[in-house]
Amino acid sequence: MNSGGKSRFNILGFAGSLRANSYNKHLLNAAAELIPEGSELEIFDLEGIPLYNQDKEREPPPRVVEFKSKIRSADALLIATPEYNYSVPGVLKNAIDWASRPYPDNSFDGKPVALMSASTSMLGGARAQYHLRQTCVFLNMHPVNKPEVIVTFAPQKFSADGRLTDATARKLIAELLVNLVDWSKRISTVHPQMVDITSGSVAGLSD
Ligand SMILES: Cc1cc2nc3c(=O)[nH]c(=O)nc-3n(C[C@H](O)[C@H](O)[C@H](O)COP(=O)(O)O)c2cc1C
Repeated sequence: MNSGGKSRFNILGFAGSLRANSYNKHLLNAAAELIPEGSELEIFDLEGIPLYNQDKEREPPPRVVEFKSKIRSADALLIATPEYNYSVPGVLKNAIDWASRPYPDNSFDGKPVALMSASTSMLGGARAQYHLRQTCVFLNMHPVNKPEVIVTFAPQKFSADGRLTDATARKLIAELLVNLVDWSKRISTVHPQMVDITSGSVAGLSD
C-alpha cells in the first residue's frame, strides 16, 4: 500500500533479541498467524547489524541499508522487545540508532508502530516498552496505544517449540494488529508525515 501500488498492507516486524528461542521472536511468529485479512507481516532479523559508529553512518553497512529500506517501504512497524536491566536491549537500541541516522535521514519518521514485549518476569517487559515509547517520540513515530501486549512469565505462555499458547495474549495480539492497520490508515489520511523534524528548531538536532 505504501509504495508501488501494493495492494496488501505491509507490516515490518523485528524483535530486540538475537536468541534462536527468543520469546519475542515467537511473539512475532504468533503475530504472523494472527495477521488481519489483507495484511502481511515480514519479519526482519537484527542479526548482522554491527555496533553503531557515527564515523560510518554516511556509508552504512549493507545490513543497515537493507533494514532502512524495509522500514521505509513498510506501511507500519511491529516491534517485540525483551527487557534488559529495566530497559530496551542494546541490540534493539543499536538497530534503531542506525536506522535513524544520519540526521535527518530518519527512516522511522512518520511511521505507525505497534509494540509488544515478553519477559520471564511478572512485569512482562512493560518498563522496556515505556522506554521504547519515549524513543518513538523523538523519532516521530506514531505508536498505537491499546491494547498493551505485555506477556508476563513467558516460559508459561509458550509451548516447547515456541508457539504462543496463551489465549489472552493471542487475542490481544490480534486486536493490536487490527488497531495498527486501522490507526495507520487514519493517520495517513490526516498527514503522511505529521511533523517534519528537519524544520525543528531544537538546538543540537543536526549533530
Ligand atoms: C542481560 C539481561 C537483563 C535482563 N533484565 C531483565 C529485566 O530488567 N526485566 C525483565 O523482566 N527481564 C529481564 N531479563 C530476562 C528476560 O526477560 C529474558 O531473558 C527473556 O527471555 C529475554 O527475551 P527473549 O526471550 O526474547 O530473548 C534479562 C535478561 C538478560 C539476559
